[in-house]
Amino acid sequence: MTAAPDAGKAASDAGRPSPRTDAGGPRIFVAPERGAAERAVAREIADLVRARPDAVLGLATGSTPAGVYAELVRLVRAGELDLARVRTFNLDEYLGLAQDDPRTFRAQMRRALFEPAGIPPARTDLPRSSLARADEERECARYERAIEAAGGIDLQLLGVGRNGHVGFNEPGSAATSRTRGVALDPATRADAAAAFDGLDRVPRRAITVGIATILAARRLRVLAFGRHKAAIVRAVLEGPVDPAVPASLLRAHPDVEFRVDREAASGLTRFQGEG
Ligand code: GLP
Repeated sequence: MTAAPDAGKAASDAGRPSPRTDAGGPRIFVAPERGAAERAVAREIADLVRARPDAVLGLATGSTPAGVYAELVRLVRAGELDLARVRTFNLDEYLGLAQDDPRTFRAQMRRALFEPAGIPPARTDLPRSSLARADEERECARYERAIEAAGGIDLQLLGVGRNGHVGFNEPGSAATSRTRGVALDPATRADAAAAFDGLDRVPRRAITVGIATILAARRLRVLAFGRHKAAIVRAVLEGPVDPAVPASLLRAHPDVEFRVDREAASGLTRFQGEG
């Protein structure tokens, strides 16, 4: 594992795979605007599902993947895609919210994708949000087993938190980590304050799949958009591979693509001007 992303090469065309400069390492795409990156990932998911209708998708919440879900819904409504047979697993879920709380990631996914895209609830899975502390471990073991029983994740979609988290793998998460209950980082809770009408109401714990769980997926597709992600995108792609920046650990994956818009790429030094 190298400290710099020498293996990656930026490409300006969101639809064209960038050549790798050596075996392995991330492919980095700088899209002229986020819609191009969203459409490219949605197209890849659609192609995967057309080839394999029961594909296993790893999904993420947050604002980052919203456009990908909107594009998938558009394709379904246009009759160009059928998602009724896919299996989905989400990266994470808050703890301490009722199962039907509209702020759960489960509810967000239902609104953004599952219902409008016609994915039956029984084919979707997220960790439970309402659990006694004593039951967390059992739920985490169930989740790992369910992913394995489904045959593993074919394509994992990911956003990056401003502190470099992926899922809720906060800074310090080990590359070997698996699904577990975690305390949320103050920065993560601060970013979620608006959605919960105040910091005090933001859950303090969550369940997240681990870095090793994510790295076991066959393809990783990481998105980051906006100037507020520029510093972390630079740390993720140009800094050391380090648990202090969990998303940097994804650079070790054999099939990982980072798709960023020009604003999120604005802190990159190696790839400047290629977007
Ligand atoms: C959230 C989620 C992550 C997400 C990240 C970034 O809290 N747990 O999976 O990628 O933070 O959020 P956003 O996409 O809104 O910037």
